[in-house]
Amino acid sequence: MSTAPAETIFADAVLNAWLAGVGLAVEYVRAEGNTLYYRDDRGDEVAVLDLLCGFGSLIFGHHHPEIVAHAKAALDAGIPVHAQLSKQPHGNQVGAALNAIVRRETGRDDRYTAVFANSGAEAIEICMKHAELERRDRVRALMDEVAEHLEQARRAVRGGAATAAAAGSDDAGAVGDPVERFEALAAEVSRRNAELLGRPPLFLALEGAFHGKLVGSIQLTQNEQWRAPFAALAPAARFLPAADPEAFAKAVASLREYALDVIIDAGKVRLVERDFPLVGALFVEPVRGGAGMRPVTAALAREIERTAATLGCPVVVDEVQSGMGRTGAFLASSHMGLRGDYYTLAKSIGGGIAKNSVVLVRQDRFRPEFEVIHSSTFAKDGFSGAIALKTLEMLEANDGEAYRVAAERGGRLAVTLAAVQADFPDVVTGVHGIGLMLAMELAEQSESASEVIREPARAGFLGYFLAGYLLRRHRIRVLPAGPAWNSVRFEPSIYLTDQDIERIDIALRAMCSILRSEDGGALL
Ligand code: F0G
Repeated sequence: MSTAPAETIFADAVLNAWLAGVGLAVEYVRAEGNTLYYRDDRGDEVAVLDLLCGFGSLIFGHHHPEIVAHAKAALDAGIPVHAQLSKQPHGNQVGAALNAIVRRETGRDDRYTAVFANSGAEAIEICMKHAELERRDRVRALMDEVAEHLEQARRAVRGGAATAAAAGSDDAGAVGDPVERFEALAAEVSRRNAELLGRPPLFLALEGAFHGKLVGSIQLTQNEQWRAPFAALAPAARFLPAADPEAFAKAVASLREYALDVIIDAGKVRLVERDFPLVGALFVEPVRGGAGMRPVTAALAREIERTAATLGCPVVVDEVQSGMGRTGAFLASSHMGLRGDYYTLAKSIGGGIAKNSVVLVRQDRFRPEFEVIHSSTFAKDGFSGAIALKTLEMLEANDGEAYRVAAERGGRLAVTLAAVQADFPDVVTGVHGIGLMLAMELAEQSESASEVIREPARAGFLGYFLAGYLLRRHRIRVLPAGPAWNSVRFEPSIYLTDQDIERIDIALRAMCSILRSEDGGALL
């Protein structure tokens, strides 16, 4: 860590001091495959096995030679990186490649329009915006219908063909002028509906969700520390139970909001309730990374689809982390048969060297005006497009060999993690995830006899502390899985070797022994 005085530090002063505290303040100087290198005191390179791999954005590892060669060739050829508002055919090519892959994998004949962005959070916010365009149409359709019903009823009352129930829906006390009574009903309808129209949309996400940290997306990320300070900036989300489809359905039912409408029933105008489309979209991570790599069950997937159909809102399947082959399929949602109205992809679509993300919107829902009203200077740049095409081609090569390797390597690692759990059931409370998206969940340790273990456990950062130990002692780079602090996260590239897995096994067993024997000193 730098010893420079604070006033000379212009970035990351707090973060770097904190990283030093947990033993993670390392400067990496080179990267290759699943390896990051730092220099020791003598200036020699020290290799670290990188199991974090860019928060899961390196499905082919650091600087894959084929991707690097492709990038160099593209730059040497002088491909336009920035030619905003020109034809930019690579956008369509990436869209076509993604459609072909999604169609093959899901076996469904859906077509998706691709919208490009620069980061995962941005892709999520594109979904929020597009979903709001859709919701406005649903609201408008409902309000047009109500206006027409009111007009019909008004004509009927004025013409004497109908009378009106008293406001308050019960016509027992229906006295006085029917036209006046009708206008009172109409006023009640207007009041209620205007109140609903004034409300911001409600977005739904799963408990423990992580969907990004920008102004809108942070409200879809449950972690309180990150979300709460910015709650006033954007519409709120409701976080729905993810473990139990019944509890999920019950929570959704409690969210329904009713607009008012009128009907003419046996010559009487009455108020009726209509479902109001308050919900903008339902966001789902097929594998909830921040919740400790928890896959959605097929049963919940069915409930999610049912809910969205009832609400008329899109299901946004957030594959920012789980997509691009990491779980052994191009889309993790394929494992559960969950169909997205929108999909988000990011991370590995950058091939480890570009920043890119994309939203796929099913064409029967796509609002063409979105192409005009949404844009970003850097989105859909030529370089990222070239890299995305190359990466997709590599994923699909040899009949999808990369997916099979991800599944096989992940399975192999999961077996090793499960064996560690079996030998240390007092320390390891679970192994979760699919393919190369795994987490090992650890017992709390907040009652450990060792202060060195107990204190960070109570402060909620034991996972980081253990990552520091694994880095220093075993040259293995991990972090906890999001706010599930008491966990170890594994997201290596598909090039994880058997020797790597052996190293992981040895390191985790050493870590578990220390936790079991409450020998905190050994962590320092
Ligand atoms: N959605 C999911 C499922 C993510 O995992 C992430 C990021 C995002 C959206 C936001 O993407 O960072 O590019 O804006 N996950 C990181 C992680 C932070 O730790 O895996 P972003």
